[in-house]
Amino acid sequence: MQDTGEWQALSAHREALDGVHLRDLFDGDSNRGERLVAEADGWLLDFSKNQLTAETVELLGALADRAGLRHRIEAMFDGEPVNTTENRPAWHTALRQPSPPPEVRAEFDRMAEFAAEVRSGRWQAVVNIGIGGSDLGPAMATAALGAYAQPELDMRFLSNVDGAHFREVTRGLDPARTLFIVVSKTFTTIETLANARTARAWIADAVGDESAGSHFAAVTANPDKAQDFGIDANAVFAMWDWVGGRYSLASAVGLSLMAAVGPDAFNEMLAGMHHIDEHFRTAPWAENLPALLGLIGIWNRNFWGWPTYAVLPYSQELTLFPVYIQQLDMESSGKSVRADGTPAGTATGPVVWGQPGTNGQHAFHQLLHQGTDIVPVEFIGFCRPNHSHVEHHDLLMANLFAQAEALAFGAPDSGDPHRRFPGNRPSTVLLADQLTPRSLGQLVTLYEHKVFTQATVWGINPFDQWGVELGKTLATNITAELTGATGPNPTHDSSTQSLINRYVGRRRSVAR
Ligand code: F6P
Repeated sequence: MQDTGEWQALSAHREALDGVHLRDLFDGDSNRGERLVAEADGWLLDFSKNQLTAETVELLGALADRAGLRHRIEAMFDGEPVNTTENRPAWHTALRQPSPPPEVRAEFDRMAEFAAEVRSGRWQAVVNIGIGGSDLGPAMATAALGAYAQPELDMRFLSNVDGAHFREVTRGLDPARTLFIVVSKTFTTIETLANARTARAWIADAVGDESAGSHFAAVTANPDKAQDFGIDANAVFAMWDWVGGRYSLASAVGLSLMAAVGPDAFNEMLAGMHHIDEHFRTAPWAENLPALLGLIGIWNRNFWGWPTYAVLPYSQELTLFPVYIQQLDMESSGKSVRADGTPAGTATGPVVWGQPGTNGQHAFHQLLHQGTDIVPVEFIGFCRPNHSHVEHHDLLMANLFAQAEALAFGAPDSGDPHRRFPGNRPSTVLLADQLTPRSLGQLVTLYEHKVFTQATVWGINPFDQWGVELGKTLATNITAELTGATGPNPTHDSSTQSLINRYVGRRRSVAR
């Protein structure tokens, strides 16, 4: 891509913007804040506070065309095997079609029946056991839609293999009234299986081994393994190998979310997702929210060279959203080779980080305003809260607007270098009326397709994650060494070996 005329035109255009302050751009165009925006189904994207012009947007659109984005979108939506290293589709968009494939429809019907039963009062608590995409989506969305959830149902999420997580998640729960939903596409993930086994023993202790199985449901693409674990076939829900873990919220992976908010709200989320799917597919690039997000991401990463960006929802309900986006973006975009195996040749996925405002303002915003690195920010906010404390909401949103304004424009120089606010720091604002199942579905989909847009320009496969495999293999081998199942491994380096020795020598002797 770097050899193309479109890339080179952007490089030259970027150089022409050297030394141009955001203040200059706003001074030069009094309508900039109304012009450099786009809107889709209630979401406003204000990208005017980025170091770009209308010409940049045009040039980025040409880059998208050159990368074949339109064609790639169709390939993904048509279920072609766009995940080339695993030779399968990444067909999450099929899950939220108004008329999904029959096997998907059938699974939704089973889920709705199961969710209705869970909501009927038999269970006091539902614990989702899973990790990565089998945890972050449902955990994030259940927290986001707390206002729409059945209050009597205590929803918890267990992911970490650290036994402290099991202890904390089960604290105060009555095993007799606790249902576990084990979510694992492969049903081989070590953390999830360890937690599921411990959960099973915890239940069996309380209700007896015979009845323990009825406290479990599973969501997996490997139903035989779930049944081997002792989960009744009627409580095993399918996912498909053509849905990637981090793209799976709209599948049965969302079962715990559906139990919390009910099938109707879940369907509203799907409708919101579908709307953005269609928008991505049909809107011109300059009006296309996910494409714009992705292309501005490319602009910031490749042409300005900024290595990170922050996602800052001004919404406590979206507490887990930055973490969710970390997996979605970094597991998809953290690649050094193109889909054909050749070197990427350019910087790819940036580091994503963040936490909800206003808390972050009292932690890391100092660096955003005065640090030596530029960190583009994506602010997310809502005009109406899901609570009655309206004065809190005004304070919250005033802070979002103030942060974006301060980052962009800084303040006149008082002469004191410690109090200097240079401004010229880029940010984007995503604003919707209210956080609802529908707007949440839209938001998730905006980011899914943002990631896809960037991957298309970089030419990488955003649907595999081979980079996590080596660590898993080594951990399995080392576990056997720690537990004495195998002897020491002479191939370890001296650092790893001496850490293992120290651990093994002390693990039973250190007092609690
Ligand atoms: O290790 C990474 C990963 O494979 C993620 O991509 C995935 O979401 C997670 O592990 C959990 O996998 P599974 O659903 O198969 O347990």
